[in-house]
Amino acid sequence: MAIFNLGSINIDHVYRVPSLPRPGETVSALDYSRGLGGKGANQSIAAASAGAVTHHIGAIGKGDEWVLEPFLRLGLDQAHIRSLDQATGHAVIYVDAAAENSIVLFTGANHAITEAQIDKALEQAEPRDWLILQNETNLVAYAAARAKALGMRVAYSAAPFVAADIQSVSASIDMLVLNEGEALLLLDALPEFEAGHPDLAWLVTLGSNGSRYRHGTEVTQVPALPAQAVDTTGAGDTYLGYFIAALDAGRTIREAMTEAAAAAALQVSRHGAAAAIPARHDVDEYLRNLTPPP
Ligand code: RIB
Repeated sequence: MAIFNLGSINIDHVYRVPSLPRPGETVSALDYSRGLGGKGANQSIAAASAGAVTHHIGAIGKGDEWVLEPFLRLGLDQAHIRSLDQATGHAVIYVDAAAENSIVLFTGANHAITEAQIDKALEQAEPRDWLILQNETNLVAYAAARAKALGMRVAYSAAPFVAADIQSVSASIDMLVLNEGEALLLLDALPEFEAGHPDLAWLVTLGSNGSRYRHGTEVTQVPALPAQAVDTTGAGDTYLGYFIAALDAGRTIREAMTEAAAAAALQVSRHGAAAAIPARHDVDEYLRNLTPPP
């Protein structure tokens, strides 16, 4: 089985600050770093780190190919990433002393993906392969519909959150991935949504309270695992990449959630987004050393 990811690729400019700036306030950064990010790229790196065969569909600006070095290292398929005459997507990220962040996103090349590019990539897909989507590229609804028609399983992470975008993909997705705040926003914006989609699986991350998966009457909840958090950027992406990779490998929902929680716990204990995503052996070792065992 394999995972396809129509996903954003960003250059993250990360400023570590004593506190997040309020409107009108100027804050001096304690340090600055630049690296690979983007919800899509982070998810692909996590899935490939977990051991899944992963194909990324995306776009960057010409000259920024350096940003894909981690893809190369992990053997991630980048045949469907185009280099274009426009700026690579990027994010300006502030991370405060409590590991919280705020992010400003510029979509750039992430919004120049073509239907032909998606069609070509999905020619390689088999029924039951996964397609992962988030809200940082164009053509999300198109890709979801194509994947559904091919018999693929589709997981959609509704971030950045736009209720109308969820509505536009809802007929083609199997799993909706949200954090707790986004789930509340959705129920507020579209109160009938849940009842109107009885076959949809919901994966809701609950921060320090762990995560909950619900599909019909089946509910699985796992706690968050211990972590010394220094930077939570990309934690949700790490969770999802590891989670889908585990399902793709045939693990149960609970096993997949536990592995994903372990990967996220390790990821938040390091600085950065993609660069902080742990290798498979680190996740296995972390789980082996947990007392009591999960
Ligand atoms: O989810 C974290 C990601 O959001 C960052 O890497 C940044 O690029 C933004 O897309």
